[in-house]
Amino acid sequence: MKTPIVKLQQFIQAIRDAGYRGTGAALSELIDNAFEAGAKNVRIEIELKSEKREQIGSIRIADDGCGMSAEVLEAALQFGGSSRFGSREGTGRFGMGLPNSSVSQARRVEVYSWERRGAPLWSVLDIDEIVKGTCEAIPRPVAKKLPGGCSPIASAHGTIVVWSECDRLNPSRPSFLIQRLQQEIGRIFRYALWGGRRITINGQDVRPRDPLFLREGSNLQGARRYGPEVKYLVKVYDTAGRPATSTVLVRFAELPIEEWYTLPNEEKRRQGISKKAGVSILRAGREIDYGWYFMRGKRKENYDDWWRCEVEFQPDLDELFGVTHTKQEINPTDQITELLAPDFEEIAHKLNSNVRQRFIRLKPNWAASSERIASEKDAQFEPPRRAVDDCRKSSNNAGNRPVPITLGSAFKLEGLKYRLVVRDLASPDFFTSQLDGPHLTVTLNKLHPFFERMCRPLTEGDGVNAAVLRQQVELLILAAARAETGLETRTSRTVFQQFRSSWSDLLAAFLA
Ligand SMILES: Nc1ncnc2c1ncn2[C@@H]1O[C@H](COP(=O)(O)OP(=O)(O)OP(=O)(O)O)[C@@H](O)[C@H]1O
Ligand SMILES: [Mg+2]
Repeated sequence: MKTPIVKLQQFIQAIRDAGYRGTGAALSELIDNAFEAGAKNVRIEIELKSEKREQIGSIRIADDGCGMSAEVLEAALQFGGSSRFGSREGTGRFGMGLPNSSVSQARRVEVYSWERRGAPLWSVLDIDEIVKGTCEAIPRPVAKKLPGGCSPIASAHGTIVVWSECDRLNPSRPSFLIQRLQQEIGRIFRYALWGGRRITINGQDVRPRDPLFLREGSNLQGARRYGPEVKYLVKVYDTAGRPATSTVLVRFAELPIEEWYTLPNEEKRRQGISKKAGVSILRAGREIDYGWYFMRGKRKENYDDWWRCEVEFQPDLDELFGVTHTKQEINPTDQITELLAPDFEEIAHKLNSNVRQRFIRLKPNWAASSERIASEKDAQFEPPRRAVDDCRKSSNNAGNRPVPITLGSAFKLEGLKYRLVVRDLASPDFFTSQLDGPHLTVTLNKLHPFFERMCRPLTEGDGVNAAVLRQQVELLILAAARAETGLETRTSRTVFQQFRSSWSDLLAAFLA
């Protein structure tokens, strides 16, 4: 007996791991199919298991597209089966979307489709039957009534795909899933929705979600276009081998920092502002990826949360962008990277620097170091006597060596110069300070929990709020060290040291 190319029982289980990022990416394949069939409406219904309310029983995706003949329906469930294999006209071209996305989420997929009202055909792919060996081919489509509880879109033609035994949904909690799908599908299909197509999830309209914050939707709106839309022309060969030109469109947007930067962090996260710096990649008008692409050496920084980019291309550039059959990511080739990256890198640096400037204008001091602020303000205060004495002595001894004091009727210090350092200290104090002439060095003890719990998170923290807070915490410590310099007697200094050491102990105990 000849060896079949595919070992069906193993293949069907292995292909389940085809790598869809989650249920949203898988469902997008079915929505693609519906829109390619000319559907105006797509209805997604997520049904809970009646006995276990927190588990999903089935997911149905109904559309009012053209529907399928028996032949097309039979091919639709087959891996590689397609009425448009190799086409570059629309989204589908691999003949994998329907079966592959379905088995990645569910153990059974049924398809009902009708080209005439009241005449639905039906077929099925069931993993357990294939594994048991009771099914070796796609069952011939047969006439079958739509399942109970299924309210088809009132249309003369259409399709319903039913996923049941959904053992691989991600996220699997119904409330999370519905919420995630509302956002994800709203983003992925935003152009279709703006164009008048309709998608509902359990009766609720999916609203478009614009990651560029330019157009209306479930997103905040108020970004501004940065520069004109840029067109890159790429030479390609069409399916008949004739030379042609394909266009990549690129758009940038700047977010309204002045209006949004004061939003609470949680809100910024919810709205997709913080941690969402990146490029939305659109293929044939639908988003297939979102990430930090074409930036070459430009690292992603917090400032980059405040601008966005959108790249749009057509399927005839799939090879250049490295699109795979799951249509949920790109893997750009050197050729497309060389075309886009020089401009992207330059624009990214420009936009990043615009953001920085706008923040500095908003809060002139927030980016300044605590050392600089304290040093600038120190001259307003009476200088510590010890520093004045030190400076006087060194100016007497140093001949013409410049020292940071002005000579008047009495020595007058221009203010202390602050330095903040971080070190492992042998003492248990959370900070120590040392005055050396006009230089006040404050050392934060890296081994004390105060550093780990307070300073480090603020240093590594996100955005402007963390930077401002860090600056203020540092100023608090610098002020304490400055107060210490004013203690003139040995006894008062000893008392302060005792106070600091027991404060440090208590703080360590409280933070532990
Ligand atoms: N909702 C639908 N309405 C009408 N025809 C459909 C529908 N879904 C699938 N089909 C038919 O089934 C075929 C297979 O769909 P499938 O998603 O597996 O592959 P494809 O869309 O051709 O390519 P790709 O793998 O790139 O998505 C399609 O080519 C189309 O003819
Ligand atoms: Mg498809």
